[in-house]
Amino acid sequence: MNKAVIGLQWGDEGKGKIVDYLSEKFDLVARYQGGNNAGHTVIVEDVTYKLNLIPSGVIRGKVCFLGQGIVLDPDHFLKEYQQICEKISNPNIYLSSNIPLILPYHKQLDKINESILTGEDKIGTTAKGIGPAYQDKVGRKSIKLYDLKSLDKIKEKLESIKKFYDPVLNAYQEEAINIDQYLTILDSFYKEVGSLIVDNSFIKKNFNQQKILFEGAQGALLDLDHGSYPFVTSSNTISSNIMIGSGLQVDYQTVGIFKAYATRVGNGPFPSELFDQIGDYIAETGVEYGTVTKRKRRCGWLDLVSLKYSCQINQVNELCITKIDVLNNLEEIKICKSYQGQSFEEINFNDSDSLKSFSLNEDDFKIFQSWGDITKVKDFDSMPQSLKNYIQYIEEYLEIPIKIISLGPERNQTIIR
Ligand code: GDP
Ligand code: IMO
Ligand code: MG
Repeated sequence: MNKAVIGLQWGDEGKGKIVDYLSEKFDLVARYQGGNNAGHTVIVEDVTYKLNLIPSGVIRGKVCFLGQGIVLDPDHFLKEYQQICEKISNPNIYLSSNIPLILPYHKQLDKINESILTGEDKIGTTAKGIGPAYQDKVGRKSIKLYDLKSLDKIKEKLESIKKFYDPVLNAYQEEAINIDQYLTILDSFYKEVGSLIVDNSFIKKNFNQQKILFEGAQGALLDLDHGSYPFVTSSNTISSNIMIGSGLQVDYQTVGIFKAYATRVGNGPFPSELFDQIGDYIAETGVEYGTVTKRKRRCGWLDLVSLKYSCQINQVNELCITKIDVLNNLEEIKICKSYQGQSFEEINFNDSDSLKSFSLNEDDFKIFQSWGDITKVKDFDSMPQSLKNYIQYIEEYLEIPIKIISLGPERNQTIIR
């Protein structure tokens, strides 16, 4: 059966590590949304891979596909591709010809958008031009990979894009669109990696019957429609976007992945956020610094209320918990089970203002005792009882089994039940 690995929190749940782990048994690993706002770190035998666009299946030499639902920065892709070629010989990567491009003006617009917001209203984007690139897709202005066949056609499109955006760029003292410079970027991109571009029909013909692993980017709570708007990313991160974003009409089972605590980069509501030394301890121990932006991630206790919502909107079949080891030395581990006594059915997860108004109290948390050092644990049965209790409590609350347990960043620090 095909599988999808979907983040259930605000991203950085360890999707890259788990996709690498699972990809052994799959033929194709596909991305279906997002862009190089994603940062997926995978550690295999002392080699660290930092991937933004290329699915983590590339490490095992699997065929990798970037579907039409992503947005692609040609400059960035070229660099990432060249870097991966230094580590993996002949990576097998295909790009859907229907992918819209991120161009320099998208990054300038991302910067302008953020600069006109103030304080808490700032989204805290990754500044990679993601929002403006998706805006252009919806606004039917995108330059797509299939356009690269004809520089004349791109020039024509760029002329109308320039008319539309130069007034805004000028108003904010940003450099105007330089059509010649853009054509040079796109021409060299096409010469270098044009051979990776395929039509969706090619992927369907060759892979619809093969085993496919879908790699989510970001997390369910950052979904454009289902997350805490406007503190979201600009794509649908949840599993129901898979068919649209990959162009593959296949069935799949969904693995929902979450950390044993919660993190968020950028602004937006975070009811179980910690502002004390435990939050700092988790950030340092878990190395919670953004792969893309190097920003310190906000940390908090595991929030089962929002997790239950994420499981529902993704139709999660099985769960994967990561980074349990980060909590090893804490005396007490807490889990958020309600928001001021309210359960997940009573909460509007789309309304940021109402989410921000919650102030959690002791009754909203379930407390677990320390489980100590678990570095030698190789299976569920040999886990300390307090950790078993913790895992079972989460399963019962979410009513979904935890099938994968990650106890460290390495491939072999993974337990399957
Ligand atoms: P992604 O965006 O969901 O792929 O996650 P990131 O790669 O941005 O962040 C997860 C980080 O945690 C990476 O640096 C991983 O190497 C690391 N990691 C993944 N699983 C574990 C785990 O179980 N324990 C620890 N300590 N680190 C982990
Ligand atoms: P992975 O795949 C964590 C966040 C940004 C910001 C919001 C909007 O590594 O889990 P954007 O640049 O997308 O317009 O920013 O979304 N964000 C992520 N946070 N992990 C990610 O990806 C993210 N991608 C975007 O920090 O709050
Ligand atoms: Mg990440």
